[in-house]
Amino acid sequence: MSDPFVVRSLDEIRFWSRIMKEHSLFLRLGFRCEDTQLINEANQFQAQFDDIERRAHAFSVETDPQTIREFNKEVYSAAAHIWAFKRKVLGLILQCKLPGQNNFPLLVDHISREANYFRNRLDELNSGRLEPVHDAIIDENVFFLKIMADHAKFIGHLLDPSERKLVEQAREFSQEFDTLLYQALDLSSMRPQSQTIPLLSQFVDENRVSVTSLRDFKKTARDLIAECRIKSIIHPLLADHVFREAERFLFILDMFEKSLSGVKVNKKEILF
Ligand SMILES: [Fe+2]
Ligand SMILES: [Fe+2]
Repeated sequence: MSDPFVVRSLDEIRFWSRIMKEHSLFLRLGFRCEDTQLINEANQFQAQFDDIERRAHAFSVETDPQTIREFNKEVYSAAAHIWAFKRKVLGLILQCKLPGQNNFPLLVDHISREANYFRNRLDELNSGRLEPVHDAIIDENVFFLKIMADHAKFIGHLLDPSERKLVEQAREFSQEFDTLLYQALDLSSMRPQSQTIPLLSQFVDENRVSVTSLRDFKKTARDLIAECRIKSIIHPLLADHVFREAERFLFILDMFEKSLSGVKVNKKEILF
């Protein structure tokens, strides 16, 4: 029998350690040649998360929960360190101490939010303090809708300006997700009165429709970039990376939908 704690922990670490590894690569590619110290730090994080990812795949779901608890602690520490590194880089960029580097401040902030999310997930899993599902539905959507809105903005700004139709589509997605994010914040401020099953299930359905079409747009962009059919400065791995993050959001929305459709109404149900 596999322990749900072990299953959830390994799933989170397998997904997010690859993401953290890729963030290190993106940061490094954006630094200037003379920023050797920052380049070294980014390389170390890339190697560290590569190792974590490999070990997460080597563990099976039958692993002893105590071993996984220790592993979670170690990964928590790595996530906390990469978060601090990203915030330090953001500070340097915003103080104009790295003129000419190539990472947007919003991108650096964005990847630090993802590190913070990963760190919190590990802490919640280890401490057993998982949010009640009705709170998780709102909080996860607030987090991921902002992530999706940011992605649309990055794509729009990294496509070549001559790709007018794709830039236009990216701008439309950006506006659509900004609107959905505001709706999520409205629902959040109406808590707990807004946490009725019909309202939450409409919220999840509406978001899922939009995330599915953004996911399809990212998939198309990823394939066009891989085949060298469009002009952009988007790294092929970044195109795949944002596609995978949309898939992750859809996976979480599916779990919420199942939970709302009635089988389990226990608010303390361990959802993810
Ligand atoms: Fe990311
Ligand atoms: Fe992202």
